[in-house]
Amino acid sequence: MSAGDAEPSAFSLAARVPNAKALSRLGILLSGRGSNFVAIAESIRAGRLKGVEIAVVVSNLAEAEGLKAARELGLPHQVLISKGRSRAEHDAGVIACLRAHGVDLVCLAGYMRLLSPEFVAAFPNRILNIHPSLLPAFPGLEAQQQAFEYGVKVTGCTVHFVDDDLDHGPIVVQRAIPVLESDDPHSLAARILAEEHIAYTEAIRRVASGEYEIRGRRFVKRNSE
Ligand code: GRF
Repeated sequence: MSAGDAEPSAFSLAARVPNAKALSRLGILLSGRGSNFVAIAESIRAGRLKGVEIAVVVSNLAEAEGLKAARELGLPHQVLISKGRSRAEHDAGVIACLRAHGVDLVCLAGYMRLLSPEFVAAFPNRILNIHPSLLPAFPGLEAQQQAFEYGVKVTGCTVHFVDDDLDHGPIVVQRAIPVLESDDPHSLAARILAEEHIAYTEAIRRVASGEYEIRGRRFVKRNSE
């Protein structure tokens, strides 16, 4: 949904929230280090995410460290190079790959590309992203550095649904940490990352549980007032 759309009724939004029981097959998209992906995989292995499995890991860069991790973990993985292809072309290839692996929940984990509207429409309310700030503060690149330079006293991370606007969709989980006087952007980013690893598992658990729905922008327990 783009920012200018009229807000649908709670009923129609609830109807669009996917049936959680069907949300068991994750498609992870990444471009780099992959520590959030590894944290999710570890949560599954440790039984913190029951009934959920990683169906495929997709990277748009051949050299992404996260791919190496997928290989070592014995998980299905695929490189779909984005360079030299139009966004529409590349996204069509990624959508086809996710569908071929039966993915029903897409998790962006350091995927350094904007999704086309066609991609977002292909998985409505079924794409999660993690961002290293308390949105709506500091969207975009280098959010930790932005927060540090702004001088905020509290920052953190956000897991949210992806819509057509950058770092914008309904918020699923946020975790906050204080900015310490001893922090530099590097130490701050490291402490935020530790929270990201907890937040992503919690967000997947909530979305996959089917016990929540989206009302307006609010992701809330079903049947709650
Ligand atoms: C994380 O800081 C995440 O919030 C941002 O990209 C970074 C990815 O890190 N979207 P990793 O590849 O999961 O280690």
